[in-house]
Amino acid sequence: MPPQIQPLDGFHITPEQASDASAIEALLDHAFGPGRFTKVSERVRELAPLRRDASFCAWDSGRLVGCVRMTAVRVGDTPVMFLGPLAVEADQRKGGTGGALVQRACTAAESAGFPVVLLVGDEPYFTHFGFSSAQTSAVALPGPVDQRRVLARGTSHPLQGPVRY
Ligand SMILES: CC(C)(COP(=O)(O)OP(=O)(O)OC[C@H]1O[C@@H](n2cnc3c(N)ncnc32)[C@H](O)[C@@H]1OP(=O)(O)O)[C@@H](O)C(=O)NCCC(=O)NCCS
Repeated sequence: MPPQIQPLDGFHITPEQASDASAIEALLDHAFGPGRFTKVSERVRELAPLRRDASFCAWDSGRLVGCVRMTAVRVGDTPVMFLGPLAVEADQRKGGTGGALVQRACTAAESAGFPVVLLVGDEPYFTHFGFSSAQTSAVALPGPVDQRRVLARGTSHPLQGPVRY
């Protein structure tokens, strides 16, 4: 049998629906394992309801292959969207799905009045989408975090203060 070739650009993206929740849970389990609930990002997401208008799913032939979620919070007095989790199924990575989800979520956040997007992640990846740690050294997350992984885009001023609802 020939090896199965995965299309690199065969996915399409839809806004997250309530009915996507169980498929998303399965995808996040695959991507992060049980440790996902101990991450500081999870504490942020517990602060506020999910913003479905800025959260998206990527599909390939009816299968959920990626997702990104957004939560609206504040850093001090500045409204920000917190991005995460972001995950793509292992057999679909490196095809642009993750990047397309990040771009779509950031565009939706901006349309919803949140030009500033915050996340905890790897700068070498997220720098492709305009994120950096340049303005985040005074962001106080609700738990221990490597401050170099706290990244933001959409602000030329330092973000300062606790992350809160
Ligand atoms: C991070 C993730 C979402 C990227 O999804 P993807 O669909 O592969 O992303 P893209 O196709 O847009 O980009 C792939 C490129 O980013 C690179 N990349 C992926 N993760 C990276 C990281 N942590 N640091 C640096 N580069 C990374 C890949 O090597 C690839 O580079 P190439 O195009 O030069 O080969 C996916 O790897 C994943 O689900 N990982 C596990 C969960 C995770 O870590 N989520 C992010 C936490 S905030």
